[in-house]
Amino acid sequence: MSKVFDLDMIKAVYDRIPKRIAAARKVVNKPLTLSEKILYSHLWDGEAKEAFTRGKSYVDFDPDRVAMQDATAQMALLQFMQAGKDKTAVPTTVHCDHLIQARIGADKDLQEAFNKSSEVFNFLESVSNKYGIGFWKPGAGIIHQVVLENYAFPGGMMIGTDSHTVNAGGLGMVAIGVGGADAVDVMAGMPWELKFPKLIGVKLTGKLNGWTASKDVILKVAGILTVKGGTGCIVEYFGEGAKSLSCTGKGTICNMGAEIGATTSTFGYDESMERYLRATDRNEVADLANGIKEHLTGDAEVYANPEKYFDQVIEIDLSTLEPHLNGPFSPDIATPISKLGVEAKKNGWPLEVEWGLIGSCTNSSYEDLTRAESIARQAVNKKLKTKAEFGINPGSEQVRYTTERDGVLQAFKDLEARIFTNACGPCIGQWARAGAEEQKKNTIVHSFNRNFAKRADGNPNTHAFVGSPELVAAMAIAGRLDFNPLTDSLENEDGEMVKLDPPSGIELPKLGFAVEDNGYQAPAKDGSSVEVVVKSDSERLQLLTPFDPWDGKNITGAKLLIKAFGKCTTDHISMAGPWLRYRGHLDNISNNCLIGAVNAFNKETNKVKNQITGEYGEVPATARAYKAAGIPSVVVGDHNYGEGSSREHAAMEPRHLGVRAVIVKSFARIHETNLKKQGMLGLTFANENDYDKIQEDDVFNFLDLDQFAEDKPLHIEVVHKDGSKDTIKLNHTYNTAQIEWFKAGSALNLIKEMNKG
Ligand code: F3S
Repeated sequence: MSKVFDLDMIKAVYDRIPKRIAAARKVVNKPLTLSEKILYSHLWDGEAKEAFTRGKSYVDFDPDRVAMQDATAQMALLQFMQAGKDKTAVPTTVHCDHLIQARIGADKDLQEAFNKSSEVFNFLESVSNKYGIGFWKPGAGIIHQVVLENYAFPGGMMIGTDSHTVNAGGLGMVAIGVGGADAVDVMAGMPWELKFPKLIGVKLTGKLNGWTASKDVILKVAGILTVKGGTGCIVEYFGEGAKSLSCTGKGTICNMGAEIGATTSTFGYDESMERYLRATDRNEVADLANGIKEHLTGDAEVYANPEKYFDQVIEIDLSTLEPHLNGPFSPDIATPISKLGVEAKKNGWPLEVEWGLIGSCTNSSYEDLTRAESIARQAVNKKLKTKAEFGINPGSEQVRYTTERDGVLQAFKDLEARIFTNACGPCIGQWARAGAEEQKKNTIVHSFNRNFAKRADGNPNTHAFVGSPELVAAMAIAGRLDFNPLTDSLENEDGEMVKLDPPSGIELPKLGFAVEDNGYQAPAKDGSSVEVVVKSDSERLQLLTPFDPWDGKNITGAKLLIKAFGKCTTDHISMAGPWLRYRGHLDNISNNCLIGAVNAFNKETNKVKNQITGEYGEVPATARAYKAAGIPSVVVGDHNYGEGSSREHAAMEPRHLGVRAVIVKSFARIHETNLKKQGMLGLTFANENDYDKIQEDDVFNFLDLDQFAEDKPLHIEVVHKDGSKDTIKLNHTYNTAQIEWFKAGSALNLIKEMNKG
């Protein structure tokens, strides 16, 4: 096995942690949680000079690492290439795991992925090679499992362009899922901004036993907090129960923190983490962590009196926790297994279980697979036939190789399970499930994290339930949702009634982990001569052309592209689904620009008036017509415009299509920042009733853009069709540095200029 982590970086972080925590203690002036220790030791400006207000202060951070998956990395890297840097500013990795469909089985499916997406894989590989980025090939594993096995380290801070980046909290990190634009900032050496999170403490007492697994902790927490309950918060787990969990089990709990909307989740450094670091060939990291142990967990006083130090506290007794299956359609509908049959019948959930799927970034560790294996073996030994079909996605090639060596996978194969590629597969809808197109109402159980409608197989009528791998195995064997393995028996081939014994697993392989080819490709030491090839006629990839800088004049004669009515999320602005294919091609994906937004004048989507022809057409085509005629355009919107994901495409597409300003009643903050970064004017009506003054044939003339300055409103003249005019006052939140982004055409243009200088 090759060591891929950056020991010098970890040493540097550990060297500064004690000093930075001491500085934080002075300003905060009370005992510190682990989350605060990590946050305060990663401030962009170095040692803390002031205490931040949780849930209020916006703070610049300095993360240690970046990780990206193949779907989100494309646009992030295309942008990074614009920054004029030779290398990423912090250690960064790319993981090819999303673009692989599960259909027949690992080898054939992987080959098919190469046939379909080799262009994208080759691009990611060559950019990685050029800019010093570690590249994990298709088949190497799922991003978060690979990060936990190789890169996560206690007390570190990382960001990743995937919401389940939070999985690394299992190794005591603050790891946060972000959009590509944030990753570009960190890779380009800029600070990364985050609202200082609130803190939820979860005290775990007792010890897991029987059928209950780590997964049940987070299924229970999701039931308590619901899908929104963690928003803006870090969830910090502590207590004797926390120490008794395995490191990968902690990863599972942190992983699904994304399902309650938490910024991230984390655990203090303990022996389970040390065992995991040593088992994954990172003795050096374990030794370093042991040297500053007291800084890698919350203060004893915090955990003794959590109500005083956390914004909210939850207590769970692991000894009495029951196994759960959460769903359907939402991960927070938490049902203990003893009540599932009754609930299923009451709600009309189909009782027959058609598939059991084990794996995903959430639950595909050695321990997970061995616990499920212990159930699968019993089925064979007790002459039980599996009623449902079975699919397994190992989390990484290291786990796959080791479980193959140890005969674990054989137990699943004996039940005719399909072993899919070490990749996301069914978890992200990359599952060619036979018959899904018939949209039959049916039930599946899986050990993934998300179970929204259509997520796994595209069928809106698939009722997906989330549970631990061992419970999934039992439910797949029984083939019934009203089966409770704790109390019920099953009839075997000989007509005898047999009961499944509780699962038993192995935390870490007794013979150690092994792998022949872990799928890692180190970047070139000097990447300057590496050429990144993007074909000019590619439909999936397109090199970016820098956006034009501002010419210093007032923007005048701009036409209204669309006045959006009501909710306009990033999904309305840049839809997902089939458009995922074009994530690396700005011009092609721009054909989905604002097609989901409702036109305020006719209440229809994707139908706006082209002021040149007077005819109605699609939003992207109309924008392109204005752009071709050299006419700038303006988008008007309602409240909380751009809420939803942090996807930068929602800001880049209108910019690419010639929109110069987005004027709304209010913005979702991340989208507002994304607009600023792309050199767009994101402005708000000083008087929100002025939204009503905007008419379909309006033309906009800025009056004082040449005096654009921090804390100074702008004014725009709106000329209506009948020649009448309104002058509208517009507020903005640009600071002086952000105004420079606007002037340069984008934040990246500015970085590039600075690099030249
Ligand atoms: Fe992949 Fe599903 Fe995780 S899509 S990264 S396995 S949440």
